[in-house]
Amino acid sequence: MPSSIRFGFIGAGQIAESSAAAINSHSNASVVAIQDLNPERARTVAKQHAIGKTYAEPREIFSDPEVDAVYVAVPNKFHVPLTIEALKAGKHVILEKPFAMNYTEALEAAEAAKKSGKTLTLGMNLRFGAMQQKMKMLVEEGFFGEIYHAKANWQRRTGIPKLGTWFGSRELAGGGCLYDIGVHLLDLCLFVTGKFKPVSVMGATYTKFGNRGKGEGGWGKSERSDIKFDVEDFASGFIRFEDGSSVSLDVTWACHTDVSNRMDVQLFGTDAGAHVLAGKVFTQDEKTGEYLTREIVPGEVPFTHQERFCNFINHLLGTEELCVTLDQALVVQRILDALAESSATGREVHFDS
Ligand SMILES: NC(=O)c1ccc[n+]([C@@H]2O[C@H](COP(=O)([O-])OP(=O)(O)OC[C@H]3O[C@@H](n4cnc5c(N)ncnc54)[C@H](O)[C@@H]3O)[C@@H](O)[C@H]2O)c1
Repeated sequence: MPSSIRFGFIGAGQIAESSAAAINSHSNASVVAIQDLNPERARTVAKQHAIGKTYAEPREIFSDPEVDAVYVAVPNKFHVPLTIEALKAGKHVILEKPFAMNYTEALEAAEAAKKSGKTLTLGMNLRFGAMQQKMKMLVEEGFFGEIYHAKANWQRRTGIPKLGTWFGSRELAGGGCLYDIGVHLLDLCLFVTGKFKPVSVMGATYTKFGNRGKGEGGWGKSERSDIKFDVEDFASGFIRFEDGSSVSLDVTWACHTDVSNRMDVQLFGTDAGAHVLAGKVFTQDEKTGEYLTREIVPGEVPFTHQERFCNFINHLLGTEELCVTLDQALVVQRILDALAESSATGREVHFDS
């Protein structure tokens, strides 16, 4: 086992800054090299985070013997091609969400990881919050009884990421709010409930704001007027699972509603219910019939660092089990694709296996 992990970054965009800070705060890891198509961005992030080397081409990261692991944080279209190259070069990879442009591509990356013998994971940061972990523990202890339904939602009111960027381009992003933020809540919901065996999916997606130049604000405003926006800014779906349970997913980048941002996973069990992100559980007193609302105190949880990069690093150092497995990431990608397909065809999508 190595004693420390040296990272090379592909992509020096907005998310790279907090990711570099997170990695550098681990006592046995550091970011040693960074590459971006925009060399100025690479230099800026390198300077801010004491990253020694800046490169012009991804292949320079892949051929650097001082890089053990690659973090891929670029527009979605380039996730899988760069991940496969990194794996072939013998690097471990932590990839930003969503996994891929589509399920077929995701399978190719998973296959490449298997062949390389290297670790590939997805950086699903929402899984690691203490409350989410605690709720998962309660699910596993049987506190909720049988969980027959869950609602996962992330509603942003004016949350289209800056119109005119790659986020609104189907060619570069694969999809809109479903693939950008729906992926987080769907992944979290399946992680907490442990339900990774979907059998059918029904979905509807809409493009009602971005295409009219509306719906941005909270994530910055465009300076451009020639804006192309051809992805969904609203998505709703219903997923059935092998055990008979179901999940409903509602995601918006933009809509008319009362608050600017709302996100949660709500659990419906035979013995108790929960608002996962609010940390509240609901039960009924058997004797009095009174409804009880309890605030959960997370206490000791498996990933005390509560950090996606720490989990990946500790896994490579041989001290921790990897939280986000490829099998799980593939299921999430498959459901996202099926929701989009169902919306396009107007039919329910069934999974054979
Ligand atoms: N986990 C999270 O919560 C979270 C949050 C934000 C973004 N993300 C993900 O991170 C990734 C990057 O998002 P961002 O907000 O930093 O985007 P961004 O637009 O701020 O930055 C993207 C960067 O990638 C560079 N780039 C584009 N193509 C490249 C290529 N082929 N090779 C190298 N560099 C290239 C661009 O020059 C830009 O600097 C996306 O996949 C996004 O979905 C995840």
